[in-house]
Amino acid sequence: MLLFNKKIEFYQQRVNHHLSHFINDKLIPCHLLNDAMSYGALLGGKRIRPFLVYAVGEMLGSKLETLDPLAASVESIHAYSLIHDDLPAMDNDDLRRGQQTCHVKFNEEIAILAGDALQSLAFDILSTPIKGIALSTQLKMLNCLAKAAGDQGMCAGQSLDLLAENKQIELSDLENIHHLKTGALIQVSVQLGALSKDDLRTQDQQLLDIFAKNIGLAFQVQDDILNVISDTKTLGKPQGSDIALNKSTYPALLGMTQAKEKSKMLYQNALHALSQLPYNTDLLQQFSQYVVKRVF
Ligand code: IPE
Ligand code: IPE
Ligand code: MG
Ligand code: MG
Repeated sequence: MLLFNKKIEFYQQRVNHHLSHFINDKLIPCHLLNDAMSYGALLGGKRIRPFLVYAVGEMLGSKLETLDPLAASVESIHAYSLIHDDLPAMDNDDLRRGQQTCHVKFNEEIAILAGDALQSLAFDILSTPIKGIALSTQLKMLNCLAKAAGDQGMCAGQSLDLLAENKQIELSDLENIHHLKTGALIQVSVQLGALSKDDLRTQDQQLLDIFAKNIGLAFQVQDDILNVISDTKTLGKPQGSDIALNKSTYPALLGMTQAKEKSKMLYQNALHALSQLPYNTDLLQQFSQYVVKRVF
């Protein structure tokens, strides 16, 4: 895991630098809103979506400078999704990344607007011409990100997640919720990295999609598991909150042993897809292991 640890830290610093610039270097600053955006986007967080953009892009030979805006745009959507996810009307959480959630630190009105503005910022970043990317490719990237964020992706999953509170749902419905609320942004991170190489073979694109789909679901299954077995200090967010809200989760539906089995199976599927790619997938293999072994 040496390579993974070194790389994730490097990518974290890189995307933080760019995000900070995109949020704060404004001709006309709006201090309170920009502060809330910085708070929600930059303090803590693992940056696994930027990691995937960079790792896939670099594996395919793309330049880091080309990948920076792609990584920053998807993280900006993710940060917005967390700020809104924690709001009283949604999961009503007061702790995120070991600190007060955005609406507790500021207020609900500003937290809602910081989320809105981070979402707009993502499309601002991704629609600004990028060196090394053809405009037609950039249009594809914008379309992929819009679909992954909205009612074909994360927002759809979030709304189904709320509807599934206090209910017994089918496993296939839960899988769909997880694919949408969490998988979609993880999948699009891999897609953005893949699109940075214009002439990627269709079969390699498909293998990367299979990898992303499996690892995206595994990431949320592990999130469900950790919510039960970890502790609030390690997680940086409230342990036990899924049970308290009577959420539909893998441990709730399958029991802990089978939830862990599921995550192992998804990990194996991800590795199998990677093994068929004609590229050096060491870093993505280590990432896959991290996803199912992570403790926060
Ligand atoms: C948390 O995502 C919410 C889920 C989609 C499971 P992360 O675990 O990536 O959160 P941060 O960005 O590292 O805080
Ligand atoms: C968060 O899902 C998913 C998104 C924000 C899109 P959860 O509500 O399960 O994640 P945590 O536990 O609050 O991070
Ligand atoms: Mg939620
Ligand atoms: Mg939540």
